[in-house]
Formats: sequence, structure tokens, C-alpha cells
Amino acid sequence: MAMPRKPVEIRDVDLEATLDLRTRVLRSHIPTVAASSPEDHLPQTWHLGAFRDGRLVGVISGFPQEQGARPGAPAERFRFMAVELAEQGRGAGRALLAEVTARARHRGTRLLWANARDSALDFYRRLGFEVVGEGFSDSVSGLPHHVVVLEL
Ligand SMILES: CC(C)(COP(=O)(O)OP(=O)(O)OC[C@H]1O[C@@H](n2cnc3c(N)ncnc32)[C@H](O)[C@@H]1OP(=O)(O)O)[C@@H](O)C(=O)NCCC(=O)NCCS
Repeated sequence: MAMPRKPVEIRDVDLEATLDLRTRVLRSHIPTVAASSPEDHLPQTWHLGAFRDGRLVGVISGFPQEQGARPGAPAERFRFMAVELAEQGRGAGRALLAEVTARARHRGTRLLWANARDSALDFYRRLGFEVVGEGFSDSVSGLPHHVVVLEL
């Protein structure tokens, strides 16, 4: 009989630990473009990893940044959310965002947001995010995106 799948565990990780998954999952169509941004080096930037059986299977990073449509609201933006291909659809993304949401709320953040790939919009909708504004093409990936926001 198959053993039940162990739940994912969410832990803090450093920037370096996120880079391999970011690159393989988010840059597969543009492998020479760096999967990092200047915000990675801000003092308040955080990085979380989802581990299954001790193996890193998902990552997400974020930092304080206002959302253009809600100036003044204490907000955090997340970036570089990536789950190992073979692990997608098994709860790692949901677990990562649940932890991000809990921590952000605890810090007094009122709005969590991201520039989301259109291919992932239904994932964010399932987790309660609202899709706002017009779609746009991301200047780095060239892929269609929308802003997604979650009121905390
Ligand atoms: C999008 C992504 C982060 C979601 O993480 P995940 O671990 O696969 O998602 P989960 O298994 O926690 O999914 C939660 C729910 O959303 C659904 N879901 C996951 N990805 C989805 C997608 N791309 N479109 C629609 N629904 C999706 C799941 O089926 C699940 O549904 P349920 O509520 O019926 O159980 C992951 O699939 C991924 O890395 N995709 C490729 C890179 C990417 O798009 N990153 C985000 C850039 S903005």
C-alpha cells in the first residue's frame, strides 16, 4: 500500500538556496537571464522554502513595497515563486503562501501582492487573491502578467 505523502514544511532559507529552483522553473525559456533582482539584497527581504522529506521543492521571496493602486497601505510584494515541476499541484505553493500570509499579517502588513503570470492566475484566485488592472507583458520574461492582491 502506498504511504501517505508527507506534508511540506516551510522554513526560512537564504537567497542562494532559492536560485536553482528559480532558474529551472521560471527561466526555462530564457536560461541566460538571471533569476534575481536588486530587491533580493534589501535588508528586509525574506526568502522561504518548502521542504518535503528534507528536500527543497518550492521557494518564494518578498519585501515591503507599496502597491501602486493602494498608496499608503502597508504592503509586501512577493516574487520568484517557484515549485519543482514534479511537485506542482501537491500543495507546496498553497503552504508557502499560507506561511507568507501569516507572517505578513503578524508584521502589520495589510496588502500582499505580486505581478503574476497569467498561467498562474487561477492558482492565486483559489487562494483568495483578486486580479486587478489591465494585463501587461513582463519586461524580463516577456510573458503575460496581471497584478494580484490579497487584503490581509
Ligand atoms: C504556480 C505554482 C507556484 C503553484 O504552486 P503549486 O504547489 O503547484 O500549487 P498547489 O498545489 O499548492 O495548488 C493549490 C491549488 O491551486 C491549483 N493550481 C496550482 N497551480 C495552478 C495553475 N497554474 N493554474 C490553476 N490552478 C492551479 C491546484 O490544483 C490546487 O487546487 P485545489 O485547491 O483544488 O487543491 C507552481 O505550480 C509553479 O511553480 N508553477 C510554475 C512557475 C509559476 O508559474 N510561478 C508563479 C509565477 S507568478
